[in-house]
Amino acid sequence: MATRPFYRARQFFHALGALATSGRASEAGSASLARYLSPPQRALFNAMPAHDRHHSLAVLHTLQRMGETNPDLMAAALLHDVGKSEYDAAGRRIRTVPLWCRVAKVAIMMLPHGERLLLRLSAQGATRPKGMRHAFYLSWEHPRLGAALAARLGVSEQAAALIRDHMQPRRATDPPLLAALQRADDLN
Ligand SMILES: [Fe+2]
Ligand SMILES: [Fe+2]
Repeated sequence: MATRPFYRARQFFHALGALATSGRASEAGSASLARYLSPPQRALFNAMPAHDRHHSLAVLHTLQRMGETNPDLMAAALLHDVGKSEYDAAGRRIRTVPLWCRVAKVAIMMLPHGERLLLRLSAQGATRPKGMRHAFYLSWEHPRLGAALAARLGVSEQAAALIRDHMQPRRATDPPLLAALQRADDLN
């Protein structure tokens, strides 16, 4: 999986701004949650950190401004980054990709062999549920982990595929819904 480092850097600074907000969903945000997510899916959304909730709602609003209306795309927008956190059996968030890791990932991706280094850190972190390497594992694998989580809570196959593929390098043959999600994600 590759990332788009310059967009990711911009996203990081957006996220910093979002950290300063209360993270409470606006009225329009709450309406979107009720419209596109089932109650268990909404609970998962609400278990994300405030900055990820803020970012996901911003992605959804960008898609709406782009004229998109597909409900699977909207559900994917709201849940595309849920894999950046881990949750206990009751659905409470128990850990998330910390801020330092988000900063480090952007910096590492700008190195000549950054992607390879991140892959190595992530692979080592898969079996260590705590610590630095696990943070990189969550960060790197969040599309796959998030898609599995969302599928377990009943999102459509198409929504799960959009979540799984949202960090893939862009290709001319990408389905239009995936291209739209990636564009909106990059803008937020
Ligand atoms: Fe993501
Ligand atoms: Fe995102």
